[in-house]
Amino acid sequence: MDFQLTEDQQMIQAAAREFARNEIAPVAGEYDASGQFPTETIRKAGELGFMGVEVPAEYGGAGLDPVAYALMIEEIAAADAAHSTIVSVNNSLYCHGILEFGTEDQKQRFVVPVASGRAIGCYGLTEPQSGSDAANMRTRAVLSADGSHYVLNGKKSWITSGPVADYMVMFAMTDPDAKAKGVTAFVLDCHQPGFIRGKTEPKLGIRASATCEIEFEDYKVPVENRLGADGQGFAVAMTVLDSGRIGIAAQAVGIARAAYEASLDYARERKAFGSAIGSFQMIQQKLADMKCRLEAARLLTLQAAWNKQRCRRTGERNTLFGSMAKLTASETAMFCAHAAVQIHGGMGYSKEMPIERYFRDAKITEIYEGTSEIQRMVIARTETGLR
Ligand code: CAA
Repeated sequence: MDFQLTEDQQMIQAAAREFARNEIAPVAGEYDASGQFPTETIRKAGELGFMGVEVPAEYGGAGLDPVAYALMIEEIAAADAAHSTIVSVNNSLYCHGILEFGTEDQKQRFVVPVASGRAIGCYGLTEPQSGSDAANMRTRAVLSADGSHYVLNGKKSWITSGPVADYMVMFAMTDPDAKAKGVTAFVLDCHQPGFIRGKTEPKLGIRASATCEIEFEDYKVPVENRLGADGQGFAVAMTVLDSGRIGIAAQAVGIARAAYEASLDYARERKAFGSAIGSFQMIQQKLADMKCRLEAARLLTLQAAWNKQRCRRTGERNTLFGSMAKLTASETAMFCAHAAVQIHGGMGYSKEMPIERYFRDAKITEIYEGTSEIQRMVIARTETGLR
């Protein structure tokens, strides 16, 4: 087994690390406090090719592989989870679905501007009454009498980048009686009439990643903006999430790493009872457990990314590895952030250090793109073959 990264993978890892350290880390605390969307750093991320890493160059992206994408997200997240959320949704939840299911015309119109970082993409699946039970959506898409467009009515919630997005991959019921098989996917221009943005949600963590509700009031979407076939939308949504969960796993690894590295430094410097606290066995135990879990989570995440590439060739689903990586890495991020606060004591609780931000940011990775409970369900269903 060869764990050596390719030249391209090493290059994007180094570029993302430099960008994250020099451009994101210095402003992360300010954006967290203000809750403002980080327009300027996201624009720069676009210029560096980070907004469409796996998107082929002819559609405005960097044309790299899923491992390169995971490495880039880890670096951004280690500096600031909120930035990595915006980057991740743009890359995987938005661009991936159009690349996989879109027509050539859709790729040109909707992927090129977003992958190149000139526009922002978002993903609309969740509704107020349907989070984990995604197929229970109520937003309706009704085909017009002349068959030229659908009319959308309903509400989507928890839309990452919703307040600033230019385009949205979204899902609506075209045949409510058919449940999951009655869902259809669309790509929307967010600047058309009937696309109504709600207030930005105040959140515990990833505060600079703007989140809001979107209401559709007789929004007209042309038939040529339907993504995939009528009734194929749920499979589109799940396929996209199989990929998206690798990005969240990489984000969680980045948060865990930041928490671990800060703890390591602090354990060496901080003295108590005449010694560095890192010489105490109770601190050592925490550091050792953090390090083992971090490395295991990273390996599973990179394996999921590598397997995504393999599945592209074989046509298999990457569901199991996406879910295992996301579950393991998100619980690792929470574990490491929790331990980091404890190791730092009062300083871990203070806004003077980023440790409390890691703790607040880590929590979302156990919730969005499928909760830990949903990941366990998906893993067990896949393994047993039972429903
Ligand atoms: N790939 C392709 N098709 C899939 C699939 C996959 N991974 N998973 C399911 N499907 C297909 C099934 O094969 C089935 O079709 P057939 O009957 O033809 O076989 C159909 O979809 C329905 O599947 P299920 O019966 O398994 O559906 P379910 O209602 O039991 O739900 C679920 C499955 C796994 C619980 C799903 O609802 C789920 O993943 N829920 C969590 C939703 C989620 O992750 N939301 C996150 C929102 S996005 C977000 O958080 C964005 C953000 O801001 C960052």
